Amino acid sequence: MAVIPVELAGRSYEVRVGDDLLATLPAQCGALLRKTQVPIVTDDNVHAAWGETVGRTLSEAGFEPRWHIVDAGEQAKSWRGLEALVDWLLAEGVERGDHILAVGGGVIGDLTGFAASIVKRGCGFIQVPTTLLAQVDSSVGGKTAINTRAGKNLAGAFHQPALVLADLATLATLPDRELRAGYAEVLKYGVLGDAAFFDWCADNGARVIGGERAAQHEAVARSVAAKARIVAEDERETTGARALLNLGHTFGHALEAETGFCDTLLHGEAVALGMVLAARYSARRGLMSLSDAERVAGAVDLAGLPSEIAALGLDCSGQALAAHMLHDKKMDAGNLPFILLRGIGAAYLARDVDMADVAEFLDEQLRAH
Ligand SMILES: NC(=O)c1ccc[n+]([C@@H]2O[C@H](COP(=O)([O-])OP(=O)(O)OC[C@H]3O[C@@H](n4cnc5c(N)ncnc54)[C@H](O)[C@@H]3O)[C@@H](O)[C@H]2O)c1
Ligand SMILES: [Zn+2]
Repeated sequence: MAVIPVELAGRSYEVRVGDDLLATLPAQCGALLRKTQVPIVTDDNVHAAWGETVGRTLSEAGFEPRWHIVDAGEQAKSWRGLEALVDWLLAEGVERGDHILAVGGGVIGDLTGFAASIVKRGCGFIQVPTTLLAQVDSSVGGKTAINTRAGKNLAGAFHQPALVLADLATLATLPDRELRAGYAEVLKYGVLGDAAFFDWCADNGARVIGGERAAQHEAVARSVAAKARIVAEDERETTGARALLNLGHTFGHALEAETGFCDTLLHGEAVALGMVLAARYSARRGLMSLSDAERVAGAVDLAGLPSEIAALGLDCSGQALAAHMLHDKKMDAGNLPFILLRGIGAAYLARDVDMADVAEFLDEQLRAH
């Protein structure tokens, strides 16, 4: 098992990455579970795959698992979903010193974390991420949110978990496409800040996606360490360090918006393509070599993730995609910050990007091949 500390003044916690953490849940949580009744939030898919394991291990240790099971999918992250969860937690008698278990992907983690931030003005929670994306990204760092009519993740809070348990065993039941999509965020850590990790991914990505436990262990532990470092440096996204995590996300967001945030393009798939576009755009600006940009595209392609927007068959212009970016919430006083690359492992925040130039670049990409 790897233990990665997230060092935050007064709120430090551990991320444990290993096998069979679910099967040993009571021992892992220790004194964080201070009452017999343990509130657990999950979705129906995760409950079908892992509910029995979680329920049994808790019951055998003398606890009484109490479940709140939502329908799988992004719609759980809504005002209605939040209301139902908060009402349930209050009915369960949850108090400030208690810890709620969030067992699931990023949807469950974001929803539960936000509920925990407001129940009794803030109670504890434990992240038990069961998707690759949640293990390497959403469960670490304390961002919680729901979606509103105006857009994704627009209402939320910073609320750090007390513990994160990333059990690699759970990845075995994850649909292949979800595993690949999560892998895009793994690759992202290499591309943004660690050329050696990028090389490792280029060599071992197939093993991670193929389900090899040792490769998954290394991928998750190194990714979490990268995220923990950045979060410790910039917990609330004020100094710019945390913004680097948005590599590929501005381009990706435009593609998600154009395809209507649906199954056509999963978030991780959009991020993978967005990273390729950020690299190629950086090369176009002379910041990095085109051959390095194509190495990023190669690693994305090798993982079975989309690397060419032309292949999506979108019926839109570069201008239309650029317009979606301007609606991005990361817009800062009228200037759209972009994460660009000065090479693999050398991302930086650029504030001088000309949107007309981006639109022209996207037109070329839409027509390419
Ligand atoms: N808070 C953050 O910092 C942060 C960062 C990135 C993404 N997010 C959010 O995370 C969400 C996406 O997370 P996600 O990709 O994990 O999606 P998700 O939670 O919807 O999970 C994806 C699918 O996999 C299923 N699933 C989960 N674990 C499984 C398992 N072990 N076996 C079988 N099926 C399983 C789920 O039921 C769901 O159908 C988005 O809402 C996004 O906004 C948050
Ligand atoms: Zn992301």
